[in-house]
Amino acid sequence: METQADPSVETSSEQAGEPGQAVSRPGADGSPPRVIAMMNQKGGVGKTTTTVNVGAALSEAGHRVLLIDLDPQAHLSLHVGINPDELERSVYDLLVDDDTTAAEVVMQVTPTLGVLPAEVNLAGVEAELAERTAAGESQGVLRDKTMDLVTQFDYVLLDCPPSLGLLTINGLTLAREVIVPMQAHFLALQGLSKLLETITMVRERINPQLKLAGIVLCMHEANTLLAGEVAGDLNAFLEEARGTDQPWADAAVFQPAVRRNIKLAESPSFGQSIFSYAPESNGAKDYVALAKAIAAHRVHG
Ligand SMILES: Nc1ncnc2c1ncn2[C@@H]1O[C@H](COP(=O)(O)OP(=O)(O)OP(=O)(O)O)[C@@H](O)[C@H]1O
Ligand SMILES: [Mg+2]
Repeated sequence: METQADPSVETSSEQAGEPGQAVSRPGADGSPPRVIAMMNQKGGVGKTTTTVNVGAALSEAGHRVLLIDLDPQAHLSLHVGINPDELERSVYDLLVDDDTTAAEVVMQVTPTLGVLPAEVNLAGVEAELAERTAAGESQGVLRDKTMDLVTQFDYVLLDCPPSLGLLTINGLTLAREVIVPMQAHFLALQGLSKLLETITMVRERINPQLKLAGIVLCMHEANTLLAGEVAGDLNAFLEEARGTDQPWADAAVFQPAVRRNIKLAESPSFGQSIFSYAPESNGAKDYVALAKAIAAHRVHG
């Protein structure tokens, strides 16, 4: 991936007193990093594409970004050019081996982009963690193991698998925010309510800070009537919660939606973000604008 800053991303362009110190950085004022889980139990909705390209946009703007691949398919790792078959250590080791540290697993893809990569072994992790389940420890392993590492970053983005198992729960235990990538299809609201149940459950039992930051509409067909109606319904649903103590009370349907764009579908097989692979594409334009919107939208004080 290229390290050159994209001048069109302005999220960190203001300089504080010291050169290179961006005032807009989370953490610059002692606030914790933004830790965001990209979550949807439905497969193929755009979780990995959004994690990689929002992360790349933020890192090219100068933010320190950590991506965590929690999916045994290891698509995020492949998308950033890491071969999961050649890894010495992965998130799998981190989760099942007490002695493996996050500092040993993290790979620096560019100076501002770190990755905790996955390997296919990760599929067995739920069974291996299960023995800790009785002691109530299995949900917090990722959080406990990455506590020190995450403080070195401004943004930590987690790519969850398409299920609500122990890997996703570990992600939601570490995260402070959830972003739901989805398509504006019929039944979108029903799918969302299942996700909100899970967020509410994790918030009540494990992680009281967890909130829904918002929804990203992926592979969007803006000019269809259905997509417009569904986006309107989602907005109306979120509006109803304003001022309540629901975990989605401050959530947004992020603008812009990400248009369907063939370059976004091609770039993973080249191990490149959209900004390296096709910087002039609509996909690159949408993800730069989306990253700005996410950076500007704070659900924690
Ligand atoms: N805006 C887009 N335009 C065109 N293709 C896209 C777009 N976003 C994602 N895709 C493609 O759609 C497929 C699914 O996207 P992606 O892998 O990001 O979804 P996912 O939710 O992570 O899937 P899984 O649940 O399997 O992990 C991929 O082939 C991806 O390249
Ligand atoms: Mg994925």
